[in-house]
Amino acid sequence: MHIGTTLTNFIIETQRKFEGATGEFTGLLNDISVACKKISDLVNKGDLVGVLGTASTQNVQGEEQKKLDVITNEIFIEALAHNGHVAALASEEMDDVYHLPEDAPRGKYLVLFDPLDGSSNIDVNVSVGTIFSILKAPPGVRNPSKEDFLKPGTEQVAAGYCVYGPSTMMVLTTGTGTNMFTLDRDFGEFLLTHSNVQIPEDTQEFAINASNMRFWEQPVKRYIGECLEGKDGARDKDFNMRWIASMVAEVHRILTRGGVFMYPLDSKIQAKGQGGKLRLMYEANPMAFLIEQAGGACTTGRERMMTLSPDDIHQRVPVILGSRNEVDRVTGYHQE
Ligand code: AHG
Ligand code: MN
Ligand code: MN
Ligand code: MN
Repeated sequence: MHIGTTLTNFIIETQRKFEGATGEFTGLLNDISVACKKISDLVNKGDLVGVLGTASTQNVQGEEQKKLDVITNEIFIEALAHNGHVAALASEEMDDVYHLPEDAPRGKYLVLFDPLDGSSNIDVNVSVGTIFSILKAPPGVRNPSKEDFLKPGTEQVAAGYCVYGPSTMMVLTTGTGTNMFTLDRDFGEFLLTHSNVQIPEDTQEFAINASNMRFWEQPVKRYIGECLEGKDGARDKDFNMRWIASMVAEVHRILTRGGVFMYPLDSKIQAKGQGGKLRLMYEANPMAFLIEQAGGACTTGRERMMTLSPDDIHQRVPVILGSRNEVDRVTGYHQE
């Protein structure tokens, strides 16, 4: 019997290209995979271990936190802050940059994360996930500041997510393709199950929260209107629709069989003074990196996601991602 390619085997191979053989990147990915395995275990046990329900606190986004939003954030900190692989952390669930304890060794990476994506789904037993984005830390800075994090997505060293679905899967890119690993719960390893995944350029499936239709901008109304009309309208095909309300699960579907996912700008979002629903640095950019590495595209409707210069770690942006030809079409409508 073969073991197969473990996540650790895979990372040791890929890290040589950008780090030499110090092992720090391998160590960091190992820390992340330990955190994700722990989260997977808690998500699986759910009510048996009392982790479901709300925490009666709010995060910096003004969202009501679920107990698991708080717990998963703490798991990430515990797994990453003490091993000398990172210099600082940032998360959806923390207002400011997290500085390491004084006595903790500093490493050369910064990690931004969404510890629990799709948390509105947790209490109804639908897939949730964890998203992470890895940047280089500025050399010689003991406690990197917010400004040190504010790099465009093109500066990401690696990005990925873990989806807690019927299987737990880790999906990772280090800039040479997008690869999927499935957790074998019995022996506790992520094993490579899909290498170099490719998103079909064309699709007949779209994902959008259609309850916001009346608030959308004209280009999005036009695009979705045409999808709904299908062969009876401007398109030569009919479309199917999906909406899970877990970005991780939507992106996973798109990496697996194609599709287009949109959380566009709308007037309701603008009335709150926000630039979008999803967060650039720990939702949109890591997903953009994974999607582009699989041959897809990700834009704000107006520009390529990964070229945006962030002005805040919690900045929100419109997101359109997935099969290249459909993303190009709806992005094109914004430019007309
Ligand atoms: P989070 O649970 O990390 O706050 O993110 C939720 C996001 C994303 O996962 C999903 O695509 C979107 O919010 C769902 O929004 P609606 O509730 O408006 O459908
Ligand atoms: Mn949230
Ligand atoms: Mn999220
Ligand atoms: Mn979240």
